[in-house]
Amino acid sequence: MINEIKELKSKVEASLLGIKNLGELEDFKMAFLIKKGPIQALMNRMKDVPKEEKKDVGREINIMKKFAESEYKRLKEELENKESSEPTIDLSLPGRTANKGTRHPVNQIIDEMIDIFSSMGFSVAEGPEIEDGYHNFDALNFPPDHPARDMQDTFFIKDDRELVLRTHTSPVQIRMMENKKPPIRCIMPGRVYRNEAIDSTHLAEFHQIEGLYIDKDVNFAELKATMMTFAKKLYGDDLEFRFRPSFFPFTEPSAELDIKKPNSDSWMEVAGCGMVHPNVLKAGGIDPEEYTGFAFGFGIERITMLRTGIDDIRHLYENDVRILQQF
Ligand code: DAH
Repeated sequence: MINEIKELKSKVEASLLGIKNLGELEDFKMAFLIKKGPIQALMNRMKDVPKEEKKDVGREINIMKKFAESEYKRLKEELENKESSEPTIDLSLPGRTANKGTRHPVNQIIDEMIDIFSSMGFSVAEGPEIEDGYHNFDALNFPPDHPARDMQDTFFIKDDRELVLRTHTSPVQIRMMENKKPPIRCIMPGRVYRNEAIDSTHLAEFHQIEGLYIDKDVNFAELKATMMTFAKKLYGDDLEFRFRPSFFPFTEPSAELDIKKPNSDSWMEVAGCGMVHPNVLKAGGIDPEEYTGFAFGFGIERITMLRTGIDDIRHLYENDVRILQQF
């Protein structure tokens, strides 16, 4: 019996040496310390030990039992302390991927349009988003009773209607003429505001790119050629487009450019354009007898929709990464 106790003790010692974590410690407990384990089995056999040996055998078993139990307790504390101070790293977890940002599709199109027009000799200019009524309307030859001046179309900053959120980028044309002598050849991108009912093709806040070319003998054929060259550079040579006669107070004659939607029979209006009205040249301090010019204004969100296939303008500003990530 004494020998069996010694053997078991060396087994206990050997297993204690191999314990590296709480899991293994629990295995140790299950192997030795439970009621049905080998230590208890030896104790159960005490009743069969002859009387004169009982004392020694009993002491040996007790020593071994206490040793196993106290080692279990000591290791448990030690390992628990260690595991709680160590960050638990699960090496099988997939890595965290950082979401990659992209430039907004509308900004991408603005960049591309600037590149194309720059290659055609246009420089880039900007004007204020809070504009005075003179530049937004009067200097652009809007008659005093024009409906665009109505509260329903325009956000007024002041009750006296002197300051507005610009309803288009055309007032930047006037600011260019006031500050520069012809020849003037520039594009003017920016944000514009209208008091619109929002739907799949209209927003209250959107972007335009204005274009202006003023020199001696500028004519309508040059305007058409410029618009066509631009559109083909952006959409490719197979592009189908049409010019429609139109009306704007600041151009005469005026036209609109429509582009055929891909895989569809319908057209999307993307720009207004025309020959700068003599009254507008005068307002900008330019002699209409000496100079002529053309102007155009593109709706950038619409250009973006045609390019990306997004069929509802609102998708562009919902900031849904599932949409934005695609571009
Ligand atoms: N400003 C016009 C609009 O917002 C667009 C436009 C039309 C601009 C004709 C122009 C132009 O420069 O010549 O609807």
